[in-house]
Amino acid sequence: MKIHVINGPNLNMLSKRDPNIYGTTGYEEMVKRIKNWCDENGVDVDFFQSNHEGDIIDYIQKLPNDDAVVINPGAFAHYSYAIRDALEIFKGIKVEVHISNVFKREEFRTHSVTAAVCNGVISGLGIEGYILAAQFILS
Ligand code: DQA
Repeated sequence: MKIHVINGPNLNMLSKRDPNIYGTTGYEEMVKRIKNWCDENGVDVDFFQSNHEGDIIDYIQKLPNDDAVVINPGAFAHYSYAIRDALEIFKGIKVEVHISNVFKREEFRTHSVTAAVCNGVISGLGIEGYILAAQFILS
């Protein structure tokens, strides 16, 4: 079983986003931290980031159902029915992560169309959320 950590649009720009919302850790540093945790816990992990809806869908479509997904769809969470459908087809464990607490931000962020097809959602716990999601997958 492998965990695929998928990040959507603008998550590659983490270090340039509002630090009050996203903290100061950049994408590469975040990947390193998750990878270290996975190595320490004997978890096979890979990472995929894309700013393009279709590329994320293509990636999800290729995953075997005995793998697991930790996905931060970025803004796609709020409106991409196509990513939602791709996630619905994938039968492995799926956890949606948001670095920020989307429930205390703008109204449009309080709804996720992708969350409904995931096992659960972690929002507002910073990049620790990805590791908590991995912990859940292993449990
Ligand atoms: C985000 C929240 C989304 O609303 C936003 O569009 C992002 C990041 C988060 O991790 O908090 O790009 O998914």
